[in-house]
Amino acid sequence: MNQCGSPPRTYYLWTIGCQMNEADSRRLADGLIALGYGPAPRAEQADLVVLNTCVVRQSAEDKVIGRLSSLKGLKRRRPDLLLAVMGCFVGDIPRLQQQYPYVDLFAAPSDVDAVLALASQPTSRSCNQPTTQLPGSPVAAYVPISTGCDHRCTYCIVRLRRGPQRSRPIDEIVAEARALVDRGAREITLLGQNVDAYGRDLPGQPTLADVLQAVHQIEGLWRIRFLTSHPADMSEELIEAVASLPKVCEHIELPVQSGDDEILRRMGRRYNVAQYRDLVTRIRAAIPHTALATDVIVGFCGESEAQFQNTYRLLEELRFDMVHVAAYSLRPGTPAARWPDDVPAAEKERRRQAVDDLQQRVAGEINARLLGQRVEVLVEDLHKGKWRGRTRTNKLVFFADDADWRGKLALVEITWTGPWSMLGQVRGEAEVTDS
Ligand code: SAM
Ligand code: F3S
Repeated sequence: MNQCGSPPRTYYLWTIGCQMNEADSRRLADGLIALGYGPAPRAEQADLVVLNTCVVRQSAEDKVIGRLSSLKGLKRRRPDLLLAVMGCFVGDIPRLQQQYPYVDLFAAPSDVDAVLALASQPTSRSCNQPTTQLPGSPVAAYVPISTGCDHRCTYCIVRLRRGPQRSRPIDEIVAEARALVDRGAREITLLGQNVDAYGRDLPGQPTLADVLQAVHQIEGLWRIRFLTSHPADMSEELIEAVASLPKVCEHIELPVQSGDDEILRRMGRRYNVAQYRDLVTRIRAAIPHTALATDVIVGFCGESEAQFQNTYRLLEELRFDMVHVAAYSLRPGTPAARWPDDVPAAEKERRRQAVDDLQQRVAGEINARLLGQRVEVLVEDLHKGKWRGRTRTNKLVFFADDADWRGKLALVEITWTGPWSMLGQVRGEAEVTDS
């Protein structure tokens, strides 16, 4: 019970999709806790249910629709329950309101404030007691630096839902990152749909390199990452900043999407294979031992076997540390939706599996080189009895030890490697770079 004699209000937050949604959900949870809400383990026990949604592929959209439908009965039984939907599912709001009249609020993607305004409304059943006592931050936390995107990739619904790019001023980004560090974060990942284009919409046009410099000065912060980069927007200045700033990790996410020039042109990607290859060469020359991750879409409209093979060969040649591969999913309203989605589902799946198998071999070989070496691991949490953390190159490492390693930098000797993770034995604490 609180001062007004009623139980504190509770929230249930369901999140799917990208890191941007995870970051928005964390900001929303902080805001709700500041309003006096507490987390509920299940939707049935909450006063406020928020779905933070993704529609990047049909499979994600299907999950959202399933979840929304399953909440209809709950709302009928408990009309006082507040139900809000945010994220990329929220496009045409009047149409959604007609289709799902039991939803109290459809908030535009990342519009955390609209959900907080709904949550602030008084109800008869319970009341809020605002608090300033926020919970600890995850050891590795996300900070959005821009939302939206100015590219026109023909398959992509995200830019239709999130609108044009809007960058946050540097001092606001630094303030959020500093607050997270004060609450225990040691690693910050700066997020944007196209993080390399940061600042082009701001007065004075600050760059991502400027943000990295500013965030680098935060005391108590040990590691910085950023994602996602766009190959057409990655500048020499940015590559130099990554190479010269010690806290910025050797880890770059650079989606290629296809290894075929004609497909890249139809995807509207604004680079060709030769330019992408040249960029990778320059990054690898400037930042030794950097880990490179990429995204690939297979089975895009009209993709022939020969065009798919061009992608396969490029992945074999460039040997990425990580490949996120997806079968093309037609998204209504995108330019590509007007073209025939003519690669059969089974063939898309065969291509997706072929890329997965290739990547399993490549990543396995890359990681095997770390066997017997000592690596620096920032420990994030305990998972099934083992400490779990990441190297600067974003490799997942597990080790067992009785001491409390959460939020510490461990020096770990690698004793087993696989394509997706590694095992090791802790040899002590690693030295912190905090300058
Ligand atoms: N900004 C990034 C870039 O430069 O490509 C990616 C943002 S996108 C929201 C995240 C990933 O989802 C993409 O890299 C792409 O591989 C995948 N994706 C986007 N639209 C897709 C679609 N229609 N079908 C399958 N995968 C898709
Ligand atoms: Fe989408 Fe392309 Fe932007 S994938 S988010 S339009 S860079």
